[in-house]
Amino acid sequence: MTVKRRTFLKGTVAAGAFAATGFPHIWIKDSSLARAAEGEIKVGVLFSLTGTTAIVEESLNKATVMAIEEINDQGGINGMKIVPVIEDPASDPATFAEKARKLVLGDKCVSVFGSYTSASRKAVLPVFEKRNNLYFYPTLYEGRECSKNVIYTGAVPNQQQDEFVPWLVEKFGKRWSLIGSNYIYPKEENNYCKKLLAGLGAEVVNEEYVPLGHSEFSSVINKFQSDKPDVIFSTVVGDSVVALHRQYRADGLDPEKMPMASLTTSENEVAAMGGDAAAGHFTSAPYFMVWDSPENVKFVDAYRKRWGADKVTHFVSEPCYFQVHLFKQAVEKLAPSDITPPNIREAIKGEEMIAPQGKVRIEKKNLHTWLWPKIGVAKSDGQFEILKQSADWLEPVPYKAYENQDCTEEGLKES
Ligand code: ACM
Repeated sequence: MTVKRRTFLKGTVAAGAFAATGFPHIWIKDSSLARAAEGEIKVGVLFSLTGTTAIVEESLNKATVMAIEEINDQGGINGMKIVPVIEDPASDPATFAEKARKLVLGDKCVSVFGSYTSASRKAVLPVFEKRNNLYFYPTLYEGRECSKNVIYTGAVPNQQQDEFVPWLVEKFGKRWSLIGSNYIYPKEENNYCKKLLAGLGAEVVNEEYVPLGHSEFSSVINKFQSDKPDVIFSTVVGDSVVALHRQYRADGLDPEKMPMASLTTSENEVAAMGGDAAAGHFTSAPYFMVWDSPENVKFVDAYRKRWGADKVTHFVSEPCYFQVHLFKQAVEKLAPSDITPPNIREAIKGEEMIAPQGKVRIEKKNLHTWLWPKIGVAKSDGQFEILKQSADWLEPVPYKAYENQDCTEEGLKES
């Protein structure tokens, strides 16, 4: 490992020297690209194993590692093994950026699978764009991003909210309270929600943000009690989700009268808070663990066999799993010497597979994923009951809240 790192550094210095003497620019760029070598396909695995979002990211690491092991156990990709380089960015955006640089420049990974929060994705983005490397991001997020260096396999707002918001308005009413963690994801997601609510003649009675890692929700809950909204729309993330639900229940609020509707509460957070704290609240997502399909039964069985019979799968761990398999399908099409991030990107465009949630496809124009929205209600046994599923898979429209912008193969287009 040390020898390889030294060789790489030497190569970088040499490239700089040639640049100074006028060697063709294209040669310099190509030499800096990560590339599979010596029968190995090195990839980064960048999920927090410590800190406030470890509650979810630890399971994302597990789903990713399991998919890599599964592929390697079946002979790898065209006989080459995938070698994961695992780093813990500790729920800290600056550490995410530092570890991403290490994976791309030091380890020469040809792709990195990573991140839960949009704050951490934004922190690593310049690393991947500068080196033309590829980041596989599995998390639901706010959209409004168009990078040729990210493959987005989680839901964007139209895929979680277009059916959910009208359904909730019809079922519970038009007075909404919005509560989120204080960073870009909840704010953009709420921006889209408010547009949908305005179109439905509904109103926002309160909108509030708490710091990441916040655990004291009494003033927030007092506000719910005085405002009496019909729906509490939550984009709180990480271990704050547990604190919010437990305090809601401890203060005697009733989900039948004032339910929480979330885009971020999965089986994973429910396992941490206990089923009783979650029961009766709603989540919109493309995947729930109870989904009945042969692919999902196989995924859940394999996950529990690998990591423990008490473990749960959820709507961020499932994309972690299928995106590694899509990576394999793309790399399989390349000759060993052509396994570079830009070639993987071209090969994955339009790629599809039957994932645990149903058939998914990477949309070639924006590198986001066609997914299957569902609405579930949490039950006290820790699982969700699926109440509604979309009639068809849904196209990702990452700029749906911004009608004059669109993400295309040529990049962001503004009209
Ligand atoms: C998120 O920050 N995309 C949940």
